[in-house]
Amino acid sequence: MGSVSNPSQDSAQNFTEIARDDLSELADIAREVATAAAAHVRARRPEVFGPGAQGENAAARGPVETKSTPTDPVTVVDTEAEQVLRTLLAERRPADPILGEEGGGSTESVEGVRWVLDPIDGTVNFLYGIPAYAISVAVQVDGVSVVGVVVDVAREILYSAVRGRGATATSASGDVATLTCNPISDVALALVATGFGYGSARRATQGKIIAELLPQVRDIRRIGSAALDLCMVASGAVDAHFEHGLSPWDWAAGSLIAEEAGAAVIVPKPMSTSGEGAATVALAPGIEEDFLRLLDALGALDPIPAD
Ligand code: IPD
Ligand code: CA
Ligand code: CA
Repeated sequence: MGSVSNPSQDSAQNFTEIARDDLSELADIAREVATAAAAHVRARRPEVFGPGAQGENAAARGPVETKSTPTDPVTVVDTEAEQVLRTLLAERRPADPILGEEGGGSTESVEGVRWVLDPIDGTVNFLYGIPAYAISVAVQVDGVSVVGVVVDVAREILYSAVRGRGATATSASGDVATLTCNPISDVALALVATGFGYGSARRATQGKIIAELLPQVRDIRRIGSAALDLCMVASGAVDAHFEHGLSPWDWAAGSLIAEEAGAAVIVPKPMSTSGEGAATVALAPGIEEDFLRLLDALGALDPIPAD
């Protein structure tokens, strides 16, 4: 292993000091484990919810539990997918700490290398059979994302970025496209992806912000996967994304993919410094200034507490 294998030996280490080979190796592993988890999720959906399960009763059929609120689901496949990721990482990078949505880990910034995993981002879509859910795998160094991989499970697209080296999308047939944000400059023409937390109090405030924003932009999209929202800023499928209260596993990979495609990106600081409910923002570069001014005027750059 290279210099990133024992980061605690040098707490001042950061991504600029990681050997190119090490970054490439970490990116290869991230792509490998995310692809394996995506294959697992793809295969398991018909097994768990029944062949062709879509729409009406799909959500009622499978084994589902809830987490933070009754509307925050976790399926057996979320747990399995994280286990697929953790098992492979234990083989490939046994010394690296992991933060995963289902398996836990520290949510504070940690020194050195850390893997940040969302085994299924877009679980409600997965449950209902809406084809917008993803595996998100990031490598952070000292709390900063240096590798990001998001696999759109249904569309079989692998989004990938390495800090300083750009972002790409790879199709199932192996075609690789370089990702670049849209060349938009007028906020009034911006297509904006956003999302809402699972708790009612934060949602009420988020709803008020959206009500004021909607007349001032082209339109709003609520796709249901923050990781895919961020990749869509990167690919130009939307022009902007913002959401309050995301967790590190939601944004760690997608924010780097957006940034490497040219987006202006703001990610929450560790909870100990910024408190919970902070905004994650990704903007096509031509609308950065005006969109931030608009969010600021709506109070949307401030955190929204959960209660
Ligand atoms: C959720 C999705 C959703 C966002 C929520 C997230 P999950 O993640 O990213 O788009 O609006 O805030 O919690 O629960 O599907 O992993
Ligand atoms: Ca998530
Ligand atoms: Ca999840």
